[in-house]
Amino acid sequence: MNHFDYGPDGRMACEGVPLAAIAEAVGTPVYVYSTATLVRHYTVFRDAFGARRPLIAYAVKANPNLSVIRTLARLGAGADTVSEGEIRRALAAGVPAERIVFSGVGKTARELAFALDVGVSEINVESEPELETLARIAADKGVRATIAIRVNPDIGAGGHAKISTGKADSKFGVSMSEAERLYANAANSASLDPVGIACHIGSQITDLSPMEQAFRAMRALVERLRAEGLAVQRLDLGGGLGVPYFDQPDPPSPAAFAAMVGRVVDGLDIALAFEPGRVLVANAGVLLSRVIHVHERPAEAGGEGRRFLVLDAAMNDLIRPAMYDAFHDIRPLVRPSAGTSELAYDVVGPVCETGDTFTRNRRLPELGSGDLVAFMSAGAYGSAMASEYNSRLLVPEVLVDGADFAVVRPRPTYEDMLARERLAAWL
Ligand code: LLP
Repeated sequence: MNHFDYGPDGRMACEGVPLAAIAEAVGTPVYVYSTATLVRHYTVFRDAFGARRPLIAYAVKANPNLSVIRTLARLGAGADTVSEGEIRRALAAGVPAERIVFSGVGKTARELAFALDVGVSEINVESEPELETLARIAADKGVRATIAIRVNPDIGAGGHAKISTGKADSKFGVSMSEAERLYANAANSASLDPVGIACHIGSQITDLSPMEQAFRAMRALVERLRAEGLAVQRLDLGGGLGVPYFDQPDPPSPAAFAAMVGRVVDGLDIALAFEPGRVLVANAGVLLSRVIHVHERPAEAGGEGRRFLVLDAAMNDLIRPAMYDAFHDIRPLVRPSAGTSELAYDVVGPVCETGDTFTRNRRLPELGSGDLVAFMSAGAYGSAMASEYNSRLLVPEVLVDGADFAVVRPRPTYEDMLARERLAAWL
């Protein structure tokens, strides 16, 4: 459920704002986010757990825009962060430090020190060398670092090999047996306070069974640790819940997910945490783009003809199709009238590589130069992964709330882009 739809006038709006008005005011390409959708997704996720009241640590990497984080923080969300930059963003957006979790396989000494200084709620430690480094840094500071051990349960899941994180051959976390050993070591360290265990097995997961399997293994680990006399107060079950990208059956709802979790942790007295990213923000955002032109290559001997829809958005603005073969629905901003014929398009951007192809042979109503389209479900890992490749300006972002909209990250100017660099003194 989202708040991007065609109005009675046949024009697509985000809540009360016609998307074409944003395209006119801000230019294209531009990301547009819906406050109502963010609020709805957060409350549906939160309410699914009822009285359990887990920490919902929004995975900032999915969409690090400060206004997006603040919208969620105001509802009570915490933040799952993976770099000093993300911790700084979460704090700047108003997430209290005691709701910030710091994850990641390669935290630097500087980042660990920073996390201790600001007092994050928990550092999810992913390896033995990291545990040793953190123990040393905390000892130097004369503090005890609150930690969880990130476990790799050897159960992978997710929408693409590149985003599956839970198998033993992936770089994330430690094995079950290593986790037991490290937890006991940490409990004996004067500068570490192990409070729980964490896992995250992948992203865009559309089947609850691998998650359930992993969560059962986590429960068993909690019970083993407790049997050894170790205190385990927290269980962080990560993110990963998938969203409908329109080309696949609907993924499990937050309610079904929460019911499964409830069954797994039944009777276990423990504080739960989750790190949802995509499920909160994906369908709360679209990428608006304008058709530059349609380029038709006629069929020649031995070859098929092609029809390229050349957009002003490119792989640098939305890399998911190029990187994960991801599907994004593409809709014209003006609803096609009944009976409009459809044509097959290869939808491409202006970047100079063939990988800059959003989709091939997509059937769309006939479109022409100047028409506007929206890439749906682009609120997660869209703008977050954008770059300036081909010296294209970083794509701006707009947040809608009811009938209002605000540019929450303006498009830089070419002067801004060039001013970030320095010519070497000898040139
Ligand atoms: N927690 C940890 C430790 C993670 O590594 C991730 C995502 C999350 C939580 C949030 O997962 P989510 O709920 O969003 O599935 N760029 C890829 C997705 C990469 C996910 C990386 N880790 C994409 O565009 O599909």
